[in-house]
Amino acid sequence: MKLTIIGSGYVGLTTGACFAEMGHQVMCVDNDPKKIETLLAGKIPIYEPKLETMVKKNVISKRLQFTTSTEDGVNHGEVIFIAVPTPPQPDGSVDLSFIEKVAREIAVCLDSYRVIVDKSTVPVKTGERVAQTIRRYAKPGVEFDVVSNPEFLREGSAVDDLMSPDRIVIGGNSDRALAVMQKVYEPFVAPVLVTDINSAELIKHAANSFLALKISYINAVAEICEASGADVEKVAEGIGMDKRIGRSFLNAGLGYGGSCFPKDIAAFIAIAEQMGTPFNLLKEVQKINDRQVTRFLDSIREALWVLKEKKIAVWGLSFKPNTDDVRCSVAADIVEALVNEGADVTAYDPKAMEKFQQLPWSSKVKLAENPIEAARGAEALIVATEWAEFSNVDLNELRDVMLTPLIFDGRNLLDPAAATTYGFQYRGIGRGITPAS
Ligand code: UDX
Repeated sequence: MKLTIIGSGYVGLTTGACFAEMGHQVMCVDNDPKKIETLLAGKIPIYEPKLETMVKKNVISKRLQFTTSTEDGVNHGEVIFIAVPTPPQPDGSVDLSFIEKVAREIAVCLDSYRVIVDKSTVPVKTGERVAQTIRRYAKPGVEFDVVSNPEFLREGSAVDDLMSPDRIVIGGNSDRALAVMQKVYEPFVAPVLVTDINSAELIKHAANSFLALKISYINAVAEICEASGADVEKVAEGIGMDKRIGRSFLNAGLGYGGSCFPKDIAAFIAIAEQMGTPFNLLKEVQKINDRQVTRFLDSIREALWVLKEKKIAVWGLSFKPNTDDVRCSVAADIVEALVNEGADVTAYDPKAMEKFQQLPWSSKVKLAENPIEAARGAEALIVATEWAEFSNVDLNELRDVMLTPLIFDGRNLLDPAAATTYGFQYRGIGRGITPAS
């Protein structure tokens, strides 16, 4: 099938590449000529495992094209996916101006029936607005349908998530459009859930909020573990063995970050408020998440007393492993708080240092070439992102290069017993303090 994706950011590009891989003829549109130039040269502007190879392969086989022209895109695809940003506004609600603009641009180019699909994460009832907008700007009589088809990609495993999804959600109010969408997803082996548009939109916000709730739940339990001497890792294992609960998203740590969870939870709270059905449970989820960073910084101050001029090493800058994304990264927030207090921070991240250097205050931070160099001469080491590389560092060498062997493990990555054996004082999240042996 001929498909068009408008917006070649994280979601749009990955979706376009995976559709092409499945045999569709895909045209990706973006209004940033520089981005399109980069993509045409076979390079991708983000680090995402498997994506670059897939993009290159499908560009060569001519199943994947890039353009800056919305008109070409609308002419090309029988299905047009909207995958433009939906950034947060100061009150937590979503800025839908990019969606509205694209809806107008599509409308004026429409000549014959198209299915217009909302892929971006949007508040419930956005589909209705998109349909109204297109109707208002399109030529009289031109046929179209609007569908909601939310994405559930995780950064770092976006290609696998799209190629083998847990489920495909298609929300539409017309049989004609639903039949077209079933055809789009025919090559994928996954259960398809068909709903109305509003329910599909709600599924996305409700799913992300539920996952965030799991994270805040275990972080609140971690606080009780610290007070009582229990081990949150064992508690998570024990409750996760109950199939009704499951072990995933019960990793206690510095809390959730990234470009989705903080924004989506705030948006869900805002839309619930607007509808007159306040979602106070999610406000508590946010509070617990914010408290994780405060408590962690307090524990560092408690151990080191004054942070000014203290040399502190930080491992990890991205918001989670296997990505170079530092947007709403808790790791970057911690580094910023430390440098603001005058600490002398040296950081290392396997992939995110380039993106980190684009943050306006990043020049206050030294960057190292590897984890050991970051830790050289440090009075404390913070593990802020759980990159696998960090768990393979030689603890003997690490202790030798540090000035004082103190580890704050914000992601419970390292083994406390091994750390203490090598002479470290180790503090994890919800694991108590393990003094050096
Ligand atoms: C998320 C959703 O998982 C995905 O379905 C949606 O489409 C986009 O938002 P992503 O933001 O890429 O994906 O990351 P995810 O793996 O969900 O992690 C989000 C945050 O939660 C990260 O900061 C991560 O470190 C944190 N997290 C995750 C925890 O603190 N504990 C956990 O157990 C799991």
